[in-house]
Amino acid sequence: MSILAGGQYYPLWIHRQTEEPFLRLKNHKNIIVTPPRETDAAALTTLMNHPLVYEWSDIPTIPYHLVQAAEYLATSKERSDVVRAALREAQAQSRPEQIMVDACPVEWIREVQPGGGCVLIGGIECKRCTRGEFLGPQGPKVIEWEHRDELREENLALELGDPEIVWTIKASHHGKGIATDAINTVLHDWGIPRMGVRRLLAFPLEGNHGAVKLFLKSGFEFLFGCSDSSVMRGIRRRVNVLEWRLDDGEA
Ligand SMILES: CC(C)(COP(=O)(O)OP(=O)(O)OC[C@H]1O[C@@H](n2cnc3c(N)ncnc32)[C@H](O)[C@@H]1OP(=O)(O)O)[C@@H](O)C(=O)NCCC(=O)NCCS
Repeated sequence: MSILAGGQYYPLWIHRQTEEPFLRLKNHKNIIVTPPRETDAAALTTLMNHPLVYEWSDIPTIPYHLVQAAEYLATSKERSDVVRAALREAQAQSRPEQIMVDACPVEWIREVQPGGGCVLIGGIECKRCTRGEFLGPQGPKVIEWEHRDELREENLALELGDPEIVWTIKASHHGKGIATDAINTVLHDWGIPRMGVRRLLAFPLEGNHGAVKLFLKSGFEFLFGCSDSSVMRGIRRRVNVLEWRLDDGEA
């Protein structure tokens, strides 16, 4: 049904019929991460309206609406399409080295059913960090509110492959016990080799013990709690700041 791709697409798998690329989780072989699909909006709406998920997620409203899910999926599709177009072009040019890209083309976690169908069970996103206040020369410990806009723009403007880029990652996958595997797979199979991720920050809301534990299990270090960095649905919330850095020699 699918083959492990070579060249520019490695280590993505490609479904033979649909040509959809995917990553297979390292430990849960029946779980795959794919681009968004046209039919995902309803399932995403249901997932986000679960109290144990919306409580900790930066969604605009509760309840979360189908149209919001569709818009969110459209931005994910755009990211995926840009990366896939770049891979396609590099492959067509027979570029000898794998190119660097600015995103992971697969962000949606699915459980493959015994009959071959898939159920959407969560998402995972690894993107450049846009919380400029944490990106100063002494960041994230020294928070620079006044320069947050410039610092954000500087991080976004760094050239692909620059080890100074600060990235962020988040996952949602309530209670299935696979988020650690998803972070590990996306980071090591794609983030480090194909996006040049060397440093990540994560910002789970205070009280989100599951997310803190998830990041600690994924090799992040807990740095501190920050009082006023996040405004979620109009309410100021404390966040915990955790950091991950690539060990020397791991790349
Ligand atoms: C946080 C979240 C992604 C964890 O997903 P998960 O699939 O349960 O994660 P894992 O099973 O890999 O768990 C990692 C560890 O955290 C623990 N854990 C998970 N939820 C927990 C909770 N609510 N309280 C305490 N520990 C928790 C797990 O037991 C596991 O530790 P263990 O291996 O010692 O048992 C999931 O609960 C979720 O989607 N929450 C809502 C969205 C969210 O908070 N996303 C993070 C945004 S930064």
